[in-house]
Amino acid sequence: MKDKVVLITGATDGIGLEAARQLDVQGAQVVLVGRNPAKIESALAGLSPRARAITADLSLQAEVRRAAAEFRAMSPRLDVLINNAGNGFGLRQVTSEGVEMTWALNHLAYFTLTGELLDLLKASAPARVVVTSSSAHYRGRIHWQDVELHRGYTMLKAYSQSKLANVMFAFALARRLAGSGVTANALHPGFVRTNIGATRNGPLAGLVQRLVFRRGISVEEGTRATMRLATDPDLAEVSGRFFTRHGEKEALPAAQDVEAQERLWALSEGYAARLLRQDKPASQ
Ligand SMILES: NC(=O)c1ccc[n+]([C@@H]2O[C@H](COP(=O)([O-])OP(=O)(O)OC[C@H]3O[C@@H](n4cnc5c(N)ncnc54)[C@H](OP(=O)(O)O)[C@@H]3O)[C@@H](O)[C@H]2O)c1
Repeated sequence: MKDKVVLITGATDGIGLEAARQLDVQGAQVVLVGRNPAKIESALAGLSPRARAITADLSLQAEVRRAAAEFRAMSPRLDVLINNAGNGFGLRQVTSEGVEMTWALNHLAYFTLTGELLDLLKASAPARVVVTSSSAHYRGRIHWQDVELHRGYTMLKAYSQSKLANVMFAFALARRLAGSGVTANALHPGFVRTNIGATRNGPLAGLVQRLVFRRGISVEEGTRATMRLATDPDLAEVSGRFFTRHGEKEALPAAQDVEAQERLWALSEGYAARLLRQDKPASQ
């Protein structure tokens, strides 16, 4: 990975932080995205001086677009984009842009960040887009009439829907990128001992989450699929697939439904366009 430029979101903790560390050791120029300056500083302290960082709250589309612009100003190329930041929320929350938090962070951020950097990835080909999904996608469905779950919100429903959207997005992206030299694949890292969900759901939910996740695999083990998709030369031309740390696995049939993928793509484009207009009203 020497001299490869890798942009990785959610790189201040868990799987993203460990992937950043491993990629840095392999010689990559790692650019972290995080939202917490103190955690960014601490992450950078564990990496070589090559590593850089961008601060952005990825639940907000305006911040996602700004992060992409900052990256462009920083680097003329992008060899690997790892969309990894994600969380589950015990109570339904809405971002300051008015979007349900899980949908905004776990899906729309991946969609817009990738879209904003796609020309750079193509110009840097061979390049890769890695999409961190979950086995939770097998339990998911897209609630087409109410993706933001105004009615009947549960963390599981919102999380598994967003993780299904991740797989569908990766597959639709791979189709669009065919022949470009840029691959797009999705992954389930495993049930990994990270802090996911621990801070956002109140102290009691956080404690329960920690106890449950204590049974998970180590973060090193949980980073295996991410690292493989980002670096394995054998996967240089593999695209539009779903992987776990044990290898390729068939995704949920609903995730493979091309019509549904395209419907999701159009829905996501609609969100991105609406939130862009909201951010920059026509009068400006
Ligand atoms: N752990 C598992 O068992 C498991 C299983 C399946 C899939 N996954 C997926 O793996 C990915 C990484 O999860 P993890 O387990 O490593 O979780 P984690 O330890 O909680 O790390 C999540 C990362 O995302 C960042 N993040 C969260 N909200 C953000 C926001 N609004 N803006 C910018 N960054 C934000 C966090 O930043 P802070 O450091 O500021 O919190 C952190 O760096 C997620 O997509 C998750 O769905 C995890």
